[in-house]
Amino acid sequence: MERLVEIERFDIEESSEKSLRPDGWNDYIGQPQIKKNLGVFIQASKKRAEALDHVLFFGPPGLGKTTLALIIATEMNANIKVTAAPMIEKSGDLAAILTNLEEGDILFIDEIHRLSPAVEEILYSAMEDFRLDIIIGSGPAAQSVKIDLPRFTLIGATTRAGMLSNPLRDRFGMSFRMNFYSNEELSEIIQRASTKLDKEIVNEASFEIAKRSRGTPRIALRLLRRVRDFSDVADEINISIDRSKFALNELGINENGFDEMDIRLMQLLISAKGKPMGLSTIAASLSEDEGTIEDVLEPYLLANGYIERTAKGRLPTPKSFGVLKVSNSLGTLL
Ligand code: ADE
Repeated sequence: MERLVEIERFDIEESSEKSLRPDGWNDYIGQPQIKKNLGVFIQASKKRAEALDHVLFFGPPGLGKTTLALIIATEMNANIKVTAAPMIEKSGDLAAILTNLEEGDILFIDEIHRLSPAVEEILYSAMEDFRLDIIIGSGPAAQSVKIDLPRFTLIGATTRAGMLSNPLRDRFGMSFRMNFYSNEELSEIIQRASTKLDKEIVNEASFEIAKRSRGTPRIALRLLRRVRDFSDVADEINISIDRSKFALNELGINENGFDEMDIRLMQLLISAKGKPMGLSTIAASLSEDEGTIEDVLEPYLLANGYIERTAKGRLPTPKSFGVLKVSNSLGTLL
């Protein structure tokens, strides 16, 4: 099922529409602790004229891991090569990328937990010793080749830090957990984005979109684009609160930002009548894969106390009963 609050990237949308990414460090809203620490480390490595140590970002999708990597590149005056683990199939693919890097370049690898063990192994010596150790050929004719690499910075991003192998995790000099954004932060991101789109939005409206964006900028910006469509069609000069509410309701995004999948998950847990439910049972009942449920659906519900995770499985909380009761009485979502 396609979800409007889907957090996976819509590459077509991003490439064909004006980018709403922040232009620089000062435009990046939220994640204050990360900005503070990272700011120090960037300043220090610039002072020493060295490449920044390798960086790992982890946390739910859509919270700005790639955006931060791009901003680090701008701050460091460095070139950045952006790729994702599923695109690096063979060790030769990674070798080609690494040997093309120049001193101080940044290599960004998204979904880094999905690297194959063979590729990951090559990364170890590249990260630690800036050396490529590869075997060419096989059998008696196999040769080990060592190639020196320029000093580069690897920025890895993952939705699942737990799935990273220890040797890989240990080779990152710093690692940062991305947090969900507050409604105030999201509202400011929406305000800035609408200025970029040449379509102003009243404060109340940006706050309304923020409230329904599950703490996630990628969702907030997607909802903004859709609300703006409704506003444009209605020939509004500025995006109004009434138009926003109307549009969001039409899109099926409820007051808490929950869509059908969230509601179905909470309903399912409630239907177990107090018995914890395991991930595989949830996945089978919702016809979703376990990874999507763990990485995309659950983090926001867990972080905001709608569900609980115990050793025996997932449980609903009184808060989720509350949400479903409200939805029930509206009769629109269930
Ligand atoms: N766009 C996406 N994420 C953002 C952020 N954290 N700050 C500003 N603009 C953004």
